Amino acid sequence: MTERPNADLFAESRRVGEAVDCLFAKVLADHGDGRDTLFQAMRHAAIGGGKRLRPLLTVAASRLFAIDEERSVRVGTAVEAIHVYSLIHDDLPCMDDDDLRRGKPTVHKAFGEAAAVLAGDSLHALAFEILSDPETHEDPFVRSELVLELARASGTHGMAGGQMMDLTAEGQELDLSAITRLQQLKTGALIEYAVEAGTIMARLPHDARTRYRGYARNIGLAFQIADDLIDHGGDEAAAGKRVGKDADMGKATFVSLLGEDRARQQAGMLVEQAIEHLHDHGEEADLLRAIARYAVERDR
Ligand code: IPE
Ligand code: IPE
Ligand code: MG
Ligand code: MG
Ligand code: MG
Repeated sequence: MTERPNADLFAESRRVGEAVDCLFAKVLADHGDGRDTLFQAMRHAAIGGGKRLRPLLTVAASRLFAIDEERSVRVGTAVEAIHVYSLIHDDLPCMDDDDLRRGKPTVHKAFGEAAAVLAGDSLHALAFEILSDPETHEDPFVRSELVLELARASGTHGMAGGQMMDLTAEGQELDLSAITRLQQLKTGALIEYAVEAGTIMARLPHDARTRYRGYARNIGLAFQIADDLIDHGGDEAAAGKRVGKDADMGKATFVSLLGEDRARQQAGMLVEQAIEHLHDHGEEADLLRAIARYAVERDR
């Protein structure tokens, strides 16, 4: 693995983003038959957009254990595939009904609802196909744990469960612990997985994983608070998606409960706690520290 001790977040995220794009482009090429709209819709959603936070986290966490970067990029791309699928479905009229995503029309706007549902379905499957491939890891036990934990982070105990809670809570007032639980499932679980995947590939014993889980849990929550703050007062052009919708739809968020200032404070505290979990590490953890700070300082 190439050592990059001076974590330059911008350069690193561009590099990882290009590697993710490259893998998506390879597996999502047209086949010259009736599936081409599906491939086009998947490429539209998956290639050339987004902050690539989750793959960057997988690469950064894997770096602590000197995992070969080609592998961590593959695992990061699998997490990104689940994330992109969740965004496509999140934007559908039956959910948040959004027209703009990553500065482009949402998939159902550009390709129709059926293609959007199928593009999400196929990205979901693609994630597990990538993880199960021996190119991702030579050890079948590691591959199977990567698959198991991603399944847990994506389904009823993770992202999809959190999305259901988010929809059920529309128009309701939740308390802090209920919102924390909702966000931990909706956004946190996949972010936690992105970090944990590095520890799985490194075959770290379970008790040695706790601090990385702590880091990930804190930035997962901080990241969602930042998302809610962007929706509350952010700029649509910078965000690349519509803002001001959470309040319109009566979504229960940290900002709706705590107000803007306390939500911002809370996010800042979570980032400090996240970084504290890395105190035993030296400069090999600089990228994880930089990502933690970025998680709340961002405007998109
Ligand atoms: C948006 O995720 C939805 C949430 C889970 C908060 P991101 O803010 O990571 O979106 P992209 O990937 O950069 O588009
Ligand atoms: C979506 O949360 C989270 C997932 C897709 C799992 P939001 O609905 O807040 O995300 P945005 O604001 O549309 O990106
Ligand atoms: Mg939503
Ligand atoms: Mg949404
Ligand atoms: Mg949002």
